[in-house]
Amino acid sequence: MPLKADILQGDCLELLKAEEAESFDLVFTSPPYADRRARTYGGIKPEKYVEWFLPRSQEMLRVLKPTGTFVLNIKEKVEKGERHTYVLELILALRKQGWLWTEEYIWHKRNCHPGKWPNRFRDAWERCLQFNKSRHFKMNQEAVRVPMGDWAGKRLAKLGKNDVKRFNSQVGSGFGKKIENWVGRDLAFPSNVLHLATECGNKNHSAAFPKALPQWFIKLFTSQGDWVLDPFAGSGTTSVAARELGRNSLGIEIKEDYCEEARRELKRTKVETSAPAAEEEDGLLFAATGKA
Ligand SMILES: C[S@@+](CC[C@H](N)C(=O)[O-])C[C@H]1O[C@@H](n2cnc3c(N)ncnc32)[C@H](O)[C@@H]1O
Repeated sequence: MPLKADILQGDCLELLKAEEAESFDLVFTSPPYADRRARTYGGIKPEKYVEWFLPRSQEMLRVLKPTGTFVLNIKEKVEKGERHTYVLELILALRKQGWLWTEEYIWHKRNCHPGKWPNRFRDAWERCLQFNKSRHFKMNQEAVRVPMGDWAGKRLAKLGKNDVKRFNSQVGSGFGKKIENWVGRDLAFPSNVLHLATECGNKNHSAAFPKALPQWFIKLFTSQGDWVLDPFAGSGTTSVAARELGRNSLGIEIKEDYCEEARRELKRTKVETSAPAAEEEDGLLFAATGKA
């Protein structure tokens, strides 16, 4: 089946109403942050943010499959010397709306802007909040494994007596590990902190995120041929990442010039043919039972 990648122009609140219920596997998006870029695309007041967002997330809830995932990339601003609480209020409101707040990933911006403030250091991270409709959601953990790193060769070459049994931390933290279990493994599971540069090839959108960000979550929460939605698509970074990975996508963007940019980018995008074997398999259904 040929892949589909549509970019629709309009308010996602209205356009999502035309989409079928339970038809998307992943919603990955970065909406306008409160009070940001007012001249480019509006600028929602932090006090009004939850009220503005909820009707839109209601539609996202409706169009997401029961096994699907919603990842929201967002960050609160500083106002009068304090962090604003609108993101925290949004999390609570989304839970009331029916979402489960499953996890919070941190996008560590490896090359954030340098700077100095009298009362804080430079801001080097953003939130990627994971919400689900159910505790049983698709998660391809194998698809995002990372190389063990050079340390492993040396460390695992000669095992000591504490490495061949479960050895509990000596600081009494309750953590324990059996180093021997790592012998022969090249790949390890990552943590919930993603270290990515802020660079994005796309210079025509002032708030584009790097392609590696949606890429990682698309690999983790979808399989080939699945459907990915970005309701605040901007220059179409999510749709491009989805297409390259062999997923179908829908992007919704209110500004026509960004839509045109996204469509141009998509035309240039090729589907990668060498998807890793783990991704060819159907996603395992992962039960978020607190057994992480
Ligand atoms: C933070 S930017 C997204 C950038 C995108 N991730 C990228 O890499 O280019 C948010 C986008 O949402 C769009 N937008 C704002 N309100 C919208 C709405 N109600 N429906 C659809 N898009 C909207 C803005 O025009 C802006 O391009």
